[in-house]
Amino acid sequence: MCLYYSLMPSHSSGGATAKKTFCVQKVREDFPILGTHTRAGKPLCYLDNAATAQKPQAVIDALSYFYANQNANIDRGVYELGAEATELYERARKKIAARLNAASPAEIVFTRGTTESINLVACSLGGSVLKQGDEILITAMEHHANIVPWQQIAARTGAAIKVAPITPAGELDAMAFENLLTERVKIVAFTHMSNVLGTINDAAALTKKIRARCGAKVLVDGAQAIVHGDVDLQALDCDFYAFSGHKIYGPTGVGVLYGKQALLDSLPPYQTGGDMVVKVSFETATFKRSPHRFEAGTPAIAQAVGLATAFDYLDTLDMPAVRAHEADLLAYASAALREIKGLTIHGNAPNKGALIAFTMQGVHPHDIGTILDSENVCVRAGHHCAQPLMGVLGVQSTARASFALYNTRAEIDALVKALHKVNRMFNE
Ligand SMILES: Cc1ncc(COP(=O)(O)O)c(C=O)c1O
Repeated sequence: MCLYYSLMPSHSSGGATAKKTFCVQKVREDFPILGTHTRAGKPLCYLDNAATAQKPQAVIDALSYFYANQNANIDRGVYELGAEATELYERARKKIAARLNAASPAEIVFTRGTTESINLVACSLGGSVLKQGDEILITAMEHHANIVPWQQIAARTGAAIKVAPITPAGELDAMAFENLLTERVKIVAFTHMSNVLGTINDAAALTKKIRARCGAKVLVDGAQAIVHGDVDLQALDCDFYAFSGHKIYGPTGVGVLYGKQALLDSLPPYQTGGDMVVKVSFETATFKRSPHRFEAGTPAIAQAVGLATAFDYLDTLDMPAVRAHEADLLAYASAALREIKGLTIHGNAPNKGALIAFTMQGVHPHDIGTILDSENVCVRAGHHCAQPLMGVLGVQSTARASFALYNTRAEIDALVKALHKVNRMFNE
């Protein structure tokens, strides 16, 4: 049987002997897009990684190798190719479970991404446990993906949403959060890392506190934290953890919902149809155990293999060195941006991931984005799918530079130079 990972030893999770290194210039060569899109002699400076990260050649190869050599539907065919595809898909699940220290691969449900993972929990868990008078606790720093699904289920069940506030520095207000943890709270859903403020919440400590105070079920939105931290699901001890493949150097169209197995098995399916059933009659159906009961229809097979390859790729790198590099980029960029006249950084938590949301006096963030684009610097401008948080910050929108392991200080210099151009155009 021909499995992609075993064919590509340099991208496998590696034996104990494989030496892990990290050299940013060398790593950049692994991401082909970074060498493209040079405009007027200015290299592409991609600083919108919190929206989606670029893909290493290993992931691109895994996708194309799968389609060229391994493609078949899974869990169906009795023929060898179908068995191979099934094996690859399940191997991807095992890889991710091991990488994130889940207790079992059965705790890893493949979804389309963070948004679908949270919708799944809101509908299946929320739809089963919530009733009039119950509360769902979220925080003021949530992405729409961790707000709107809860609003929908709250409207259906009569539950109420409570919002834990943040401090001026952009940290969760610990005291207010604790005070909101009453017996009425049945579900707490919070982000592990804010996509606007960069704040990293201590998910393990919060989960412990929630368990001690009210025993609510805990969902952690890991869309950003999965990229910038080393996630250990058993240490976090949350009930659910959601993330997307495309932000962690994997393909779009695939994501993960981690859930504790007993809990997943106790929940009704989110979507129904083929592949998630044991027996179907015209009147009724019985469902498989998790994770398969939550994977109705044909899943994103190649993308799941590509996501496992992204983790394999990261496993070849010296991750403590990667973390140190990201911390250096954040510190370097923060110091430089603070020097720019009229610029305000939103989010100054001491424990912060590698992104910076900012506004500039007298300049609309879309104008910042457009002028930066003329210098071939890609940043995000807008509300970042966090309109309620924008309200808390007292702005309509911000610009945001977000960093990945392949970014460099030279790219931050390009960003800063372009921001000075913005100031010259608008404020001089
Ligand atoms: C914190 C956070 N949660 C959820 C999401 C939604 O992720 P996706 O669009 O991949 O489902 C994002 C995307 O930016 C995010 O940053």
